[in-house]
Amino acid sequence: MRRAGRLPLASVVRSLLRVPCRPSSREGRPPAPLGARILTNPDHIFQHNMWDHVQWSEEDKENARQKVEKNSSVRIPPEEQVNYDRNAHLYWDGFYEMHQNKFFKDRTWLFQEFPELLSAGPAPPCGGASAPQLRDTAEGESLGDCEGGGRREGGETGSQAGAFPGSEADFRILEVGCGAGNSVFPILSSINSGTFLYCCDFSPRAVQLVKAHPAYDPSLCHTFVQDVCEEASLFPFPPGSLNVILLIFVLSSIHPERMQGVLNRLSQYLKPGGMFLFRDYGRYDLSQLRFKTGRCLSENFYSRGDGTCVYFFTKDEVHHLFTSAGLKEVQNLEDRRLQVNRRKKVVMRRVWMQSKYQKPL
Ligand SMILES: C[S@@+](CC[C@H](N)C(=O)[O-])C[C@H]1O[C@@H](n2cnc3c(N)ncnc32)[C@H](O)[C@@H]1O
Repeated sequence: MRRAGRLPLASVVRSLLRVPCRPSSREGRPPAPLGARILTNPDHIFQHNMWDHVQWSEEDKENARQKVEKNSSVRIPPEEQVNYDRNAHLYWDGFYEMHQNKFFKDRTWLFQEFPELLSAGPAPPCGGASAPQLRDTAEGESLGDCEGGGRREGGETGSQAGAFPGSEADFRILEVGCGAGNSVFPILSSINSGTFLYCCDFSPRAVQLVKAHPAYDPSLCHTFVQDVCEEASLFPFPPGSLNVILLIFVLSSIHPERMQGVLNRLSQYLKPGGMFLFRDYGRYDLSQLRFKTGRCLSENFYSRGDGTCVYFFTKDEVHHLFTSAGLKEVQNLEDRRLQVNRRKKVVMRRVWMQSKYQKPL
């Protein structure tokens, strides 16, 4: 994740000559709005920083498989593994102490890939047009049918009996594992009136970085420290109250044995029709192949030098996790790209998962 790796140009060129057209998603849905930059002429490789939908040959896959087999051949001893799991929050907190908000880039692509983050605008007046998808009233909420129009003040301190931060909004987003706010601030600068954003992280330093940001606005956003692996997680909103749960490179940092419990718990907070939006590392991403032997915890799960952990998903695993939590697939894509460092003339194969799963109506 932190150093560039070089690919033999010949293997890149071979791949490029097999570049497919944009993938269509299952069951005849329209193609996903992933980037549309397709490399059809290998001579143009250094003209852009990123090429989309790069196919891997059987040889490419076999090379990757062998690298993973090698770097997984020695496992971290069980007594050390317990430490990475138990102290995951301390390792991430140390990460933010070291890097502050300088490590990750702002997720400026969020709205292109996840337009579901935008509600369709203020709620219609009583008797007006029907509410758009994902705007249903939360189960268990005491809001009247006509409440939830424009944004109200006092997101942190609702005044109604039974009110909670953001209780008067009609579209609620939770970002889990918000880190230093690289998704939070692009979202806050773009959301429609009536939308409220919650964000949590188990690193107190990360939460502090978000709250200290000049663009942080507690009337639009509530940020709190929460470990979502805790079975007794207490969230500042009731079950069935969220329209969207955003998981950006966070599930991969959770122990694979805890992932299902996390999704099961979080899905209770979605409204019927609400959506998980997920982006994370895919199997055989460059950052997986680059691990040195001795950093592997279990299959496809590694500890980095700074003690933070990372898992690399396949499409089937993502599908199994979300559907086992009672959700329906809307999109489940493997985003295979060539990232190009034009100055250094280096190309890197990246693999990310991008998925959308919906709670049935
Ligand atoms: C790779 S960072 C991604 C941060 C942010 N989502 C982004 O895209 O920039 C993973 C984040 O998940 C947080 N995290 C990991 N496990 C968590 C857990 N069990 N509960 C809450 N946050 C967690 C970490 O502290 C870290 O901020």
